[in-house]
Amino acid sequence: MSDDYTTLLGALKTWLSHHGRGVTLVHGFDLFPFEGPLPGEVPTEPSLETAAPGSVEVSQEPAATRKPPPRGDDEPPTDNDPPPYNYDEPQGFEDEVDFGFTTDPAQSREPEPARPDLAHLDMTNITMEDLRSFWKECLGCKLGSTRKNMVFGEGAVPARIFFIGEGPGAQEDEQGRPFVGKAGQLLDRMIEAMGLTRDQIYIGNIVKCRPPGNRDPETDEMLSCMPVLERQIELVRPEVIVSLGRISAQVLLSTTRSLSKLRGSWHTYGTIPLLATYHPAYLLRNPAAKKAAWEDLQMVMKQLNLAGNT
Ligand code: URA
Repeated sequence: MSDDYTTLLGALKTWLSHHGRGVTLVHGFDLFPFEGPLPGEVPTEPSLETAAPGSVEVSQEPAATRKPPPRGDDEPPTDNDPPPYNYDEPQGFEDEVDFGFTTDPAQSREPEPARPDLAHLDMTNITMEDLRSFWKECLGCKLGSTRKNMVFGEGAVPARIFFIGEGPGAQEDEQGRPFVGKAGQLLDRMIEAMGLTRDQIYIGNIVKCRPPGNRDPETDEMLSCMPVLERQIELVRPEVIVSLGRISAQVLLSTTRSLSKLRGSWHTYGTIPLLATYHPAYLLRNPAAKKAAWEDLQMVMKQLNLAGNT
């Protein structure tokens, strides 16, 4: 470590011990309340620099060899993981299809309870719990056939902040809850650093079912889920939306601008102020960007008069 750097850290430590709120310097490197390895994570030495503009989530590898980036804490696929959806392959033959009725009266089944026609449902007065239960078995897009659990979203209703990610990863699919893996643990730390707890805010995703192999959600899948998210936002009535990652920001702001251009200033979703920041999964892979993410969260804290974690 250079002398200049040591002097700078020393000065920072002194300053922070007098002024810092929720900011710790662990190992002499940590500048952010949510810095430092998560349990079981190999510590990396974060740089003080932010990610270079334009470097965000852009791989230099040729697209053909590029693996999908992990979403959340996604473990490498296991044998139990469903195979990626193959659009070119027939998904079944007619004689394997169960049409749900039989000509044998002895075997005829109870009629299924009528399910709401989700595509034409009037959302005006629908409650959060009805929304959750109507969509639990949704087959409105192809993700319905590969997911284990629909990940509806959770938290306080109403809530001052609505964090919106991209879509569930493996752990979330398993548990049916948003942000419960490694990325979720980091998100918890970020929320705590703001002086809040998970049950004081609301967390959801653009798509409610896991895209197989952690690929990006496709347009039809996002469109199919959008009415649910819109109603969730109406019910949560957040003072601020924090979008997590490029896809969430681009969808909510209907733009193709890069995340590095979108973050750092306020936008609106309808009339609700929206701040775009990095996805916690990106921060796990690029700890240097945590500094910029913390600056984003401090903008939110300022907007909501939150003191942060002392
Ligand atoms: N990543 C997301 O975008 N959402 C989750 O719920 C988990 C990981």
